[in-house]
Amino acid sequence: MKIAIYPGSFDPVTLGHLNIIKRAAACFDRLIVCVMVNSSKRGMFLPEERVELLKKATARFPNVEVDFADGLLAAYAKKRKARVVVKGLRAVSDFEQEVQMAVINRKLNPSLETMFLASSEKYTYLSSTVVKEMARYGANLEEFIPREIVEDVRQRMALLQERKD
Ligand code: PNS
Repeated sequence: MKIAIYPGSFDPVTLGHLNIIKRAAACFDRLIVCVMVNSSKRGMFLPEERVELLKKATARFPNVEVDFADGLLAAYAKKRKARVVVKGLRAVSDFEQEVQMAVINRKLNPSLETMFLASSEKYTYLSSTVVKEMARYGANLEEFIPREIVEDVRQRMALLQERKD
């Protein structure tokens, strides 16, 4: 059974992430979408909330599982018997950091390969940071995130704005 992991912060999952999930799920028997901690980013949602949002957004893909892991990706992959990490590349600017992570992960777990999928051109501009900015200014979120989670993101942004006032 070919198992791949698609790791990320997913704060929150975007249509760009969903596009990668759909395409990667078509290439492997099982795809584990794993919410992980990126120590350089502050969160809008708690990791367990991001898992719930991802579950809502990926419910229609039978071979996709959503999980959370709080350690190193290389160790998690070993535990889950996954040999492949899938990453999306939006632009050349993603490349340097992604290759660095791929090399570190293979150093830590030599049987782990990282495979890159080129983002769909529709989503090259899209990131969770852009989504948060759009939510802050009340833009139409359906263009950026899965329909199933639009209300969750709207409500969370309203709560964060309320707390600031
Ligand atoms: O969506 P992001 O923030 O680009 O995802 C980055 C993420 C979470 C995949 C990366 O930070 C990660 O793998 N974190 C887990 C800890 C780890 O294994 N770090 C070593 C890679 S340098």
